[in-house]
Amino acid sequence: MKKTIVHIVGTGTIGEPLIGLFTDFRERMGIDEVTFHKRTPLASDRSKINHLMARGAKLATDEDQRDAFEKMGHAVSYEAEEAIARATVVVDCTPAGNEMKEKYYDHVQGPRGFLAQGSEFGFGVPYARGVNDEVLRPGEHRFIQIVSCNTHNITTLVKTLCHEGDGRYSLVRGNFVCMRRANDISQTKDFAPAPQVGKHDDPEFGTHHAHDAFHVFETLGQKLDLFSSAVKLNTQYMHSIWFNLAFDREITKEEMIGRLRGNVRVAVTDKRNCNEIFSFGRDHGYYGRILSQTVVVLPTLAVHRGRELYGFCFTPQDGNSLLSSVAAALWFIDPDPESVSRRLEPIRRWVYTEI
Ligand SMILES: NC(=O)c1ccc[n+]([C@@H]2O[C@H](COP(=O)([O-])OP(=O)(O)OC[C@H]3O[C@@H](n4cnc5c(N)ncnc54)[C@H](OP(=O)(O)O)[C@@H]3O)[C@@H](O)[C@H]2O)c1
Repeated sequence: MKKTIVHIVGTGTIGEPLIGLFTDFRERMGIDEVTFHKRTPLASDRSKINHLMARGAKLATDEDQRDAFEKMGHAVSYEAEEAIARATVVVDCTPAGNEMKEKYYDHVQGPRGFLAQGSEFGFGVPYARGVNDEVLRPGEHRFIQIVSCNTHNITTLVKTLCHEGDGRYSLVRGNFVCMRRANDISQTKDFAPAPQVGKHDDPEFGTHHAHDAFHVFETLGQKLDLFSSAVKLNTQYMHSIWFNLAFDREITKEEMIGRLRGNVRVAVTDKRNCNEIFSFGRDHGYYGRILSQTVVVLPTLAVHRGRELYGFCFTPQDGNSLLSSVAAALWFIDPDPESVSRRLEPIRRWVYTEI
């Protein structure tokens, strides 16, 4: 029987924990082998590669880099294209997913599906776990884009608070200010010494966050009025989002809190400092990560003139993309929703509903 193989391309902020997640829970997720591609042989990355391989993942490299990786003591199992061709699912975690699609993925027969991440708009169906699972159709969708961390947050908020159950959304307009961390804690470059405001490049949506969220809802047949702004803050902890949702009906704070508390992918909190949320992740998360889609700060919620909700939330940045990446990869392996849900069980304990 053909082996079930998950192949991850890239070992950065998203790729590294994903390789770890798939190897740690390989058996319970019904995966036979986990392989990964690393592009650049670096002595500073040796410990990371060694640890991922010690957990059971197998290394693939470009042919012209094989010697360099072997000289550093790594056993190279596959050549890059060979690893793609023999995989059941390819999870691209590079900022070059669209480029890789054109160069390789579009022409390979073997894999059932390919995933790329937030920056790769247009790669495939935009997807966030719990928001638009129902639009994925087996056999039809071979390319999925896991939307960015802030897009996960925005779409989950809107779905949880504005979806009326009959497929209708009571949202008139949603505004979001994404206050982004300057860089990831794993990164040394591009730290911002002071708040740095972003341009509104997109006349319709402001920044890519609302634009991407719009396209997630478009897969559900909705055309929502969303607008976002972005500012980078001089922190490495977490992204924070200020939001303002205008409804076409009367709402109450109690109803909004009830909706948030009733959603398995939303964590609510009374903590107002993002370092406390981040620290909770360090103590109770998967290698420091919370896998919930958003963390909504309850004391910040305010209903204004009966039809508008204001509030703040934090984005469990890589955590929410990781959950959707695992869910989508498992869907390619076996699209039965109950089977996906069962195979996600081992990581569910890091999807918190309260922090
Ligand atoms: N950072 C986050 O919190 C976050 C959250 C949600 C989504 N995302 C999305 O995830 C994706 C990756 O972001 P990241 O933050 O993980 O990036 P990152 O930390 O900079 O890592 C990028 C990885 O991609 C590899 N790479 C880059 N170009 C490549 C190419 N042409 N071929 C093969 N490998 C290549 C690099 O390999 P080498 O180092 O070996 O050269 C590195 O391992 C982006 O789409 C981003 O939007 C990121």
